[in-house]
Amino acid sequence: MKTYALLLAAGKGTRMRTDMPKCAYPILKKPMIEYSIERLENSLVDEICVVVGHKREVLMDLLGDRVQYVVQEEQLGTGHAVLCAEDLLKNKPGKTIILPGDMPLIETKLINKILNAHDDMGNDLTLVSTLYDNPKGYGRISRDKYGNVCSIVEDADLTDTQKQIKEVNTGVYVINNDILFDCLKEIKINEKKGEYYLTDIVSVMKRRFKIGLFLVRNSILMMGINDLYQISIAEKHLRVEINKWHMLNGVSIINPETVTIGHDVEIHPGAVINPNTTITGNSVIEADTIIGPNTEIHESTIKKNAQVKHSLVYDSEVGEFSTVGPFAHLRNHAVIGDHNRIGNFVEVKNSKIGSKTKASHLSYIGDAEVGDRVNFGCGSVTVNYDGVNKHKTIIGSDVFIGCNVNMVAPINISDNVFIAAGSTVTEDIPAGALTIARSRQINKDDYAKNLVKPQIDEKKAL
Ligand code: UD1
Ligand code: CA
Repeated sequence: MKTYALLLAAGKGTRMRTDMPKCAYPILKKPMIEYSIERLENSLVDEICVVVGHKREVLMDLLGDRVQYVVQEEQLGTGHAVLCAEDLLKNKPGKTIILPGDMPLIETKLINKILNAHDDMGNDLTLVSTLYDNPKGYGRISRDKYGNVCSIVEDADLTDTQKQIKEVNTGVYVINNDILFDCLKEIKINEKKGEYYLTDIVSVMKRRFKIGLFLVRNSILMMGINDLYQISIAEKHLRVEINKWHMLNGVSIINPETVTIGHDVEIHPGAVINPNTTITGNSVIEADTIIGPNTEIHESTIKKNAQVKHSLVYDSEVGEFSTVGPFAHLRNHAVIGDHNRIGNFVEVKNSKIGSKTKASHLSYIGDAEVGDRVNFGCGSVTVNYDGVNKHKTIIGSDVFIGCNVNMVAPINISDNVFIAAGSTVTEDIPAGALTIARSRQINKDDYAKNLVKPQIDEKKAL
């Protein structure tokens, strides 16, 4: 018998007040729903199905064929959302764990414990509850005087006495497939909201079936996200956990409260992460690197012994012993080889740079292929855009580019070339050439006195 997971992600997420469907909203730059999908993939669950509806194309784009989909055309409540999976699950023997798509902190170990508890207790339905000091917004578990569950009461429907209840419904349930859909059909519409509440399945089942409760002690793991403030709480929790994990693994993080590391980032022991640094996506930071302060790295690899300070690195790679920054910007597949220097106010875009090359100040290198031991003088620029198309600059090895040189692409500069400062080069340069592409200087002897000089008011100047 198989175990299925059904994730509910069709809702509008009205309380978020954003255009994006709630379950796609990023936490540490990773869509919320991907956290729970990943945990389910690693769990005892055999097949994962997601109920999509509002802006479904966004979620389907994100998740691709990692999961199966069920469409809920109209958002008629959580009970109705599960009912939409009838064709997919009804005749499949086994059990289904139902989870809300807005629960990014749940962990694989806990999912497995809940599934095992369902079997061990021989339940038809297992409810998962937890305790909150401030349970506002959650459905509450209402028990009879013997402690048996009688119903789940939604926050809006609580009586004053029920408002004291601290045990909440987490929105996670395990139920056997053979009874799920018949019971769902008995749920009546909630007149006030015009929705079918999945929580009402408890009242439907309580006389005929065995309902068990699984209480989660670490309540933060079951947090449901309804608004942007709760996003910030979940993000903080993840950030603290992720930083701690890296530190215990041998990564030095200075002032960790200011450092944000994404869930999928790989950092090797021996790396040092300085304050105000954000590393996200599938980035890899190798050993003995120094990253930050004030640095953002996304989807990039920083190889052993490299340093990146006060800089942005997006979708790029920095080779061993290379230094980047301060105030550099690498983006769109900038591949920097080993022992390079990318210095102050240098931008590198979609370019490949060999080794021991230096661009120390104020350069733009775009759509270029650069060899080894090239020196980019201060202010030298690849002129890659003609207003319509982007063109390529190819620079060989051992090339010296003087200050303020424009290399108008497409252009090919061969090995061992020397380009004089201030040149605007528009034609290919053969190997070994000295290129001067600027007008010659004229000095008019004794002429300066004929020019009108600006009058300087000493007082004003001060
Ligand atoms: C729900 C529970 C509440 C519980 C809380 C836990 C109900 C009626 N209430 O409330 O008892 O304490 O979760 O976090 O179930 N969804 C659909 N289709 C719909 C409506 C919702 O797919 O028609 C999805 C949403 O996208 C969301 C999930 O179901 O991922 C939960 O919906 P939400 O509106 O967040 O429910 P809560 O009000 O938080
Ligand atoms: Ca919710």
